[in-house]
Amino acid sequence: MEIKPAKRLCGKLHVPGDKSISHRCVMFGAISEGTTEITNFLEGADCLSTIRCFREMGVEIEQTSSQIQVHGRGLHGLRAPMKTLDVGNSGTTTRLISGVLSGQPFCSVLSGDDSLNTRPMKRIIEPLSLMGADIESLHGNGCAPLRINAHLQAGTFPALTGISYHSKVASAQVKSAVLLAGLYAEGMTQVTEPALSRNHTELMLKEFGADVSSHIHKDGTYTASILPCTKLFAQKIRVPGDISSAAYFIAAALLVPDSEILIQNVGINPTRAGILSVCQDMGADITYLNRNDNGGEPTADLLVRTSRLHGVTVEGEVIPALIDEIPMIAVMAAFADGKTVIKDASELKVKETDRILTTTEGLRAMGADVIPTGDGMIICGGRPLHGGCVDSHLDHRIAMAFSVAALAAEGNTVIQNSQCVDISYPGFFDVLQKLQEKA
Ligand code: S3P
Repeated sequence: MEIKPAKRLCGKLHVPGDKSISHRCVMFGAISEGTTEITNFLEGADCLSTIRCFREMGVEIEQTSSQIQVHGRGLHGLRAPMKTLDVGNSGTTTRLISGVLSGQPFCSVLSGDDSLNTRPMKRIIEPLSLMGADIESLHGNGCAPLRINAHLQAGTFPALTGISYHSKVASAQVKSAVLLAGLYAEGMTQVTEPALSRNHTELMLKEFGADVSSHIHKDGTYTASILPCTKLFAQKIRVPGDISSAAYFIAAALLVPDSEILIQNVGINPTRAGILSVCQDMGADITYLNRNDNGGEPTADLLVRTSRLHGVTVEGEVIPALIDEIPMIAVMAAFADGKTVIKDASELKVKETDRILTTTEGLRAMGADVIPTGDGMIICGGRPLHGGCVDSHLDHRIAMAFSVAALAAEGNTVIQNSQCVDISYPGFFDVLQKLQEKA
């Protein structure tokens, strides 16, 4: 994909449904009683992987574009899959489904694409094994393919034992895997994480009828607890727009001269909205309109205007609330005046690519001054970026962040392997184009 600099961006847009919430709607709907009706579901490849896996386990799921109906089979109604569950590129599918599969009286195998099968799974194997699950990394490297063997006393309930687990990383995927296994465990299951990661599982499982509670401790650590239950109940869910997708358009409007865009119905759950506070710290002109509450998930329309940005330090507890937006923040930092330091973000190394490396490589290809560090990067901004050739390495967030960089750079940019945007944002390039045509 070749991208030319943009003169101006303007117009209104809706970004697709939130990826994290879309996955969870299907998963929780599948193990509930009744039919869960979902609107504004994200039709990205990752969420379609979740649908594919649950269909393979006998769950009837109807899809008409972004409207989904999940005919739940109850907590104990999943069927043994006839073949390997193909999780594609999706870490969320893999880790969350492992929590559910740990409590099932049948054996299953999970495998994904080359990137997925190199991502660390010990982080879920460890707590789930402590709960009594029998999980094996088939190549013995702590990664997928994973085999989750039927619990020894297959068919008996509860299959697992509740634990109190302290996770080393603030990861919603780890937390969610343990909480989901907790539905099938005896006694209470608790997960403590070093900082609060996105809390959609806690909010949504409660709506589906689970007994979930949570607590932030004085030192900033966070504990979520769940009790086993006999039934979950189908819900009607309108998925809010994905702030991680909105981030590209927020940055584009801030960086391209004379721009003004309105992004409607964006989820602004504080555990996800770190990008907004960083933008504000950088001097961004963003106005919140039409604030709303959508089943416990706050939403707003975001009016974004071109702004002169300055460097900031991004560190500590805010990191989990913007972890997926760091490539985009790094690009904004390259255009901002002064120095930006990003730290405490070593989790970037285990995303779809090592995003410390792929972000650094992309920024350097466009002439930015960036130094990668063990847990982030240092960017000395303010000098104009030039067009270049940026390889996404099949990482959707790298492809989109550098497409935005290209709009604000001098000269044309080629994004290699750009089709991977379909993982979380099918149609991304068309929307980017339309905002320029309206200008
Ligand atoms: C997600 C959690 C985050 C995030 C990912 C989606 C989720 O991963 O990066 O894109 O839906 O739970 P980690 O749990 O590994 O931080």
